[in-house]
Amino acid sequence: MTARIIRGTEIGPVIRDEIKEETARLLEQHGVVPGLVTIIVGQNPASISYVTAKQKAAKELGFYSLQEDVPDDVTETALLELISTYNSDPRIHGILVQLPLPKHINETKVLYAIDPDKDVDGFHPVNVGRLMIGEAKFYPCTPYGIQQMLMRSGITIDGAEVVVVGRSNIVGKPISMMLVQKAEGANATVTMCHTGTKDLAFHTRRADILIVAAGRPNAITADMVKEGAVVVDVGVNRIGMTPEGKAKLCGDVDFESVKEKASAITPVPGGVGPMTITMLMLNTLRAAQSMTGKI
Ligand code: GUN
Repeated sequence: MTARIIRGTEIGPVIRDEIKEETARLLEQHGVVPGLVTIIVGQNPASISYVTAKQKAAKELGFYSLQEDVPDDVTETALLELISTYNSDPRIHGILVQLPLPKHINETKVLYAIDPDKDVDGFHPVNVGRLMIGEAKFYPCTPYGIQQMLMRSGITIDGAEVVVVGRSNIVGKPISMMLVQKAEGANATVTMCHTGTKDLAFHTRRADILIVAAGRPNAITADMVKEGAVVVDVGVNRIGMTPEGKAKLCGDVDFESVKEKASAITPVPGGVGPMTITMLMLNTLRAAQSMTGKI
C-alpha cells in the first residue's frame, strides 16, 4: 500500500478562507478586528521563523497584529509587566509568548500571567483544566490542527486505537486529552508512550492512528507501524541547510519506508506545521468573537 499524503498546506488554506470570511463578518457586523500580539524573547532562529510566519498569517487575514521583540536579558518582572499591558489592551484579543524562554525566566509564571481569555495558545493552567474536563475554550494549536486534519480527511477517530508518542505539554498530553473526550472528532482509545515506555514498538504496532511527537528523526520505522495505519508526524528536526540557505527539515517518522505501509501519512515539511499557525488564527478570531459576546 502507498499512503495518501495528508497536507497541511492543502487543508490549512481551506480553514484560512473560512477564517477570512468570519473576520470580514465580525468587522462588518460588530466593527471588531481580531488583534494578536506575539512576544519573542531573544534570537532563537527557530522561534524567529515561527513568529514571523504567525505575524504574516495574521496580516494576510486582516488581523490587527503586533510583534514585541524583547532582548534575552529582559527581567522576568519586565516581561510580566509587558503581558499585563496587553491583558488590558482592548485591541488585543490574543497574546502569544513564543517558547522556549531563556533559563532565567520562569515559563510557568509567564504562562500564568496571560489572561486565560486571551490565551490563544491554550497553555494557561485554566485552559489546560478546561480541556481536561471537556469544556475547552481554546485548544492548543498543534493538537487542534492534528484533529482538524484527521476530521477533514475523513478519518474515523471514534473508536480508533490512537497511540501518541511523546508527552509534552504542547503536543502529546493535550492531543491525548482531546481525542479521549466523548465528543465529535474524538472518542478514541488513547495510549500515551514516552521515554519510560518499555516496548515502544509493541504499542505503535497496535495503532490505527499513530501520532508522533518524539523529537528525534527516525523514531518510527516501517516495522513499528501496522499495515493501513494513519500516521501523523509532528516532528520538526533541523538536519542542515538547503543550497538556498534555508533550514532542511525532517520529521520523527521514516517517511519513505512508512508511506509504503500506512494508508495515510503527513509529510514534514508541509504536514502538521502549517496547521498550527492556522489554528492560532482561528483561536484569535474566537477570542475576538467571544469578547464581543458574539459566539
Ligand atoms: N514553541 C513551539 N511551539 C510553540 C507554540 O505552539 N506556541 C508557543 N507559544 N511557543 C511554541
